[in-house]
Amino acid sequence: MKSELFVNGKSRVVEGHPMDRLLDILRDELGLIGTKEGCGEGECGACTVLMNGEPVLSCLIPRIQCEAATVETVEGLAAAEARAFLEGFVSDGGVQCGACTPGIIVTALALLRDNPHPDRQEVQTALAGNLCRCTGYEGIHRAFDRGAEDE
Ligand code: FES
Ligand code: FES
Repeated sequence: MKSELFVNGKSRVVEGHPMDRLLDILRDELGLIGTKEGCGEGECGACTVLMNGEPVLSCLIPRIQCEAATVETVEGLAAAEARAFLEGFVSDGGVQCGACTPGIIVTALALLRDNPHPDRQEVQTALAGNLCRCTGYEGIHRAFDRGAEDE
C-alpha cells in the first residue's frame, strides 16, 4: 500500500506491506535512524516517536495505521526545540550507552510541551515505559530539571 505521512513537518509518500512497522518505515525508507530498536515488542520504549502529538511505540504501529499521520522523530524534535534541554541531557549524565536516549528525549519533550514544570513524580510516570539500563535515571531527572528551568 502507498501512504502519505507528515514526518518532521514534511510530506513523505511511502509504500510497502500494510503490516510493515512504523519503526522500519522511518529507519529504512526515510533514513531517520535516530529512532532506535530495542526489544522490538513494545517493552522498552527505545523506539518512541510522536504520532499526532502523542508518544507511541513505533515498533508496534503498522503502516496501515499511519495514513495521513503526523509523526515527529528525535531528529525533528532536536532541531525544533529545547536545545538547552538536549545539551543538559549530555552534560548531566542522562546519556551513557545511548540506546534508550532518543526514546527518552521524545517522551521528555512531549511531557514538557504539556507541562513545562513537571515534578519528579510526573517525570517518573511519563518515563515509566522508557527503560534505561545505564543511568539509574538520576542524570535524566537532572536534565528534566534543567529543561524546566530553561522554559
Ligand atoms: S523497540 Fe519498541 S518498545 Fe522496545
Ligand atoms: S543510557 Fe544506556 S540504556 Fe539508557
